[in-house]
Amino acid sequence: MARMRRETIAIHGGYKTDPTTKSAVVPIYQTAAYEFDSAEHGAALFNLEAEGFRYTRINNPTTDVLEKRVAALEGGVGALCVGSGQAALHFSVLNLTSQGDNLVSVPQLYGTTHTLFAHILPRFGIEVRFAQSDKPEDIERLINSSTKGVFCESVGNPAGNICDIEALAVVAHRHGVPLLVDNTVATPILLRPFEYGADVVIHSLTKFLGGHGTTMGGAVIDSGRFPWREHAERFAVFTQPDRSYHDMIYVDHYGASAYIERCRSVFQRTMGSVLSPLSSFLLLQGIETVALRIERHVENAQRVAQFLRDDARVQWVNYVGFADNPYHALAQKYLGGRACSLLTFGVRGGFSAGTRCFDALKLVKRLVNLGDARSLACHPASTTHRQMSPAEQEKAGVKPEMIRLSIGIEHSDDIIADLDQALAAAEAGGHP
Ligand SMILES: Cc1ncc(COP(=O)(O)O)c(C=O)c1O
Repeated sequence: MARMRRETIAIHGGYKTDPTTKSAVVPIYQTAAYEFDSAEHGAALFNLEAEGFRYTRINNPTTDVLEKRVAALEGGVGALCVGSGQAALHFSVLNLTSQGDNLVSVPQLYGTTHTLFAHILPRFGIEVRFAQSDKPEDIERLINSSTKGVFCESVGNPAGNICDIEALAVVAHRHGVPLLVDNTVATPILLRPFEYGADVVIHSLTKFLGGHGTTMGGAVIDSGRFPWREHAERFAVFTQPDRSYHDMIYVDHYGASAYIERCRSVFQRTMGSVLSPLSSFLLLQGIETVALRIERHVENAQRVAQFLRDDARVQWVNYVGFADNPYHALAQKYLGGRACSLLTFGVRGGFSAGTRCFDALKLVKRLVNLGDARSLACHPASTTHRQMSPAEQEKAGVKPEMIRLSIGIEHSDDIIADLDQALAAAEAGGHP
């Protein structure tokens, strides 16, 4: 399966026909727990000597298929699926850091990730050092002996910047730390960060992978390639006995899957951000069509971006598909010349004209999600990035008048017609 194309993995990955029912589609195992044959069998499961399921907080057969499918799509050795993208981000960092450690991050982040990094983790003694920019030299400057990882979004939300993953991986590895990449906006259909040296990938499954705006979920995926043993002192959590789990040494027991299985055994087990089996099922349904949907998302976004750019009522459009975009060359390299369907623009007339345009949208929905089949619009400065100071917003690429669009898979003529009438309403000056 790992050798198959992404379109095929998206439909078949991780599922062997259910032996009891022969169900063609992944069944929903709506159960909290699983019977043991005997005390000895239960102990073997808890000792991780026997394969199987114990309790749905730790693993579940429906979620297991989702984990295998997402891991295969990214080309990783294993995944942990949890209740939201935020939980996945939180666990991915906790799995590397303890009090006194730090993480070095690019500044262009989704707003709640910024809040987690700037305000929540520091309360537990974990510092996040924000670089001046996403340039590898700015990141390298901040790495010290307490650094446990480097973090970026492959395509920043909403800045639209594209990180030079290969160069960031070189910098991280030169200092003996892994590179963590939030690949939510790009999806493994457009970009697989492990192919460029990343070590951990994080997803909000709520977005393009689920694709229908129905279901929350998150995933942490392990490349299986980071050499924890070579950096045994810095990463003793993987190489020394774990007193919280009967002295397990993760690299000995799990080999290449040490990172992801520790994430499950320690954080999912004790903090329990569980994805319900029904949600796993719904996310699997979405993933089946992700490759086709992304094609249409990309095509539609290109037409919408061009319409906005050609329109005198629009002041600026940030879209990496344009040859003069500063990230165009990186889009050629990492997105195969395509551009994601997330783009931002500013209406001529500043904040108030932007608000009038936003309020006049009829087809395009005003909300804070992205990656839905429907076209969506959001005003980051007043919603997703509201907790940031104006200076932090500027560093994260958020402008006061900026409208973020997540272009859906409707007919592009209809999306453009809606934007056209909203721009006309903005220009007319009144509220609808
Ligand atoms: C890039 C990115 N990462 C993570 C998240 C968080 O995901 P969730 O909303 O599933 O918790 C979001 C949500 O918008 C996001 O845009």
